[in-house]
Amino acid sequence: MAKSTPESTVKRMGWVGRASRGRNRFLPLLLLLLLLAACTTEVQPLNSLDPQGPIADQIDNLFWLVFWIATAIFVVVQGALLVAIFVFRDRKGRTEVPRQVHGNAKLEILWTAIPTLILAGIAVPTFRTVFELADCPTEAMPVDIIGHQWWFEYRYPWYDITTANVLVIPTDTEVCARMTSDDVLHNFWVPKLNGKRYLVPGQQTELRLLAVEPGEYWGHCAEFCGLSHAKMRARVEALSQSEFEAWVSNQQTPGAILEDDSLAAAGQQIFLNGACTGCHNIAGVNEINPDEVAVYGPDLTHFATRNVFAGAVLPDGLNPTEAEYEEALRTWLANPPAVKPGSFMGNQNLTAEDIDALIAYLRTLD
Ligand code: CUA
Repeated sequence: MAKSTPESTVKRMGWVGRASRGRNRFLPLLLLLLLLAACTTEVQPLNSLDPQGPIADQIDNLFWLVFWIATAIFVVVQGALLVAIFVFRDRKGRTEVPRQVHGNAKLEILWTAIPTLILAGIAVPTFRTVFELADCPTEAMPVDIIGHQWWFEYRYPWYDITTANVLVIPTDTEVCARMTSDDVLHNFWVPKLNGKRYLVPGQQTELRLLAVEPGEYWGHCAEFCGLSHAKMRARVEALSQSEFEAWVSNQQTPGAILEDDSLAAAGQQIFLNGACTGCHNIAGVNEINPDEVAVYGPDLTHFATRNVFAGAVLPDGLNPTEAEYEEALRTWLANPPAVKPGSFMGNQNLTAEDIDALIAYLRTLD
């Protein structure tokens, strides 16, 4: 009977070790499957394969055209490869080497010409789509989008409105986003409405937006722009024509100085006496000029009409309740850089009472 020696133990353990390493090879695969399973949630607000308007449709159609052409090529090439592997494999009784085609001019020309023609074929609809989507039609409604670290600002030159985070547009009306950046490169991307486009400091880029159905379309900054790039989201809210007109006239109404002794009035005093006024404009209340301040924060005149804030990252989730909205506001005001690392809005060291009063005031800004 073999005695257990240190060597045999080591050998056994080595064998056991190898076997478990073999199993471990499946672990990353398993984790990947679990990770991919997370992609199958019902609600996919950033799904680029779910176009919701004629512009996104054009991109989607092109994508599927190219996808199916590529799939056909894949099947043909892999099929030919499998045939070659099985038919011409080395096996018992095979005496001669299969006929070699290397250097066959006819074949070389053929399999250079076929991919060239395929690529030229794909180039036609690709270029057509790229050029069709490149420039805004002259009748489109202009909206200026300005990228900031880390939020999007929207200005409506036709209506003299400035807002942030939530871009409100009318349905069935083409919008021309004229985009630029206040600091670094950003990229405005609302996948259900159009592809991505850069916001470049000192330049103007254009992006066409057209929503057919009223609703909320999610977006995200699609270019790494610093510490909180991942926290730079956007929303587009498409309203019916009449709702949009009502929204416009409401946004044009300035705020007012509160004279009563409500909690909201106390909050307004905190706003006016704190650092807030250095960056945030409230029409009819403090009126700052964006060109004259060092750091410009979102216009708060109609803050409460926006269902998200802090670069559209708060409140998190799809349909936040009133309580969740208020809790998110509390979290944000208590320590902004904890939510958005690197945020230019630093911790204002507000007391719980100050925060309650500010929330009360902010919620009146509708
Ligand atoms: Cu802005 Cu990434």
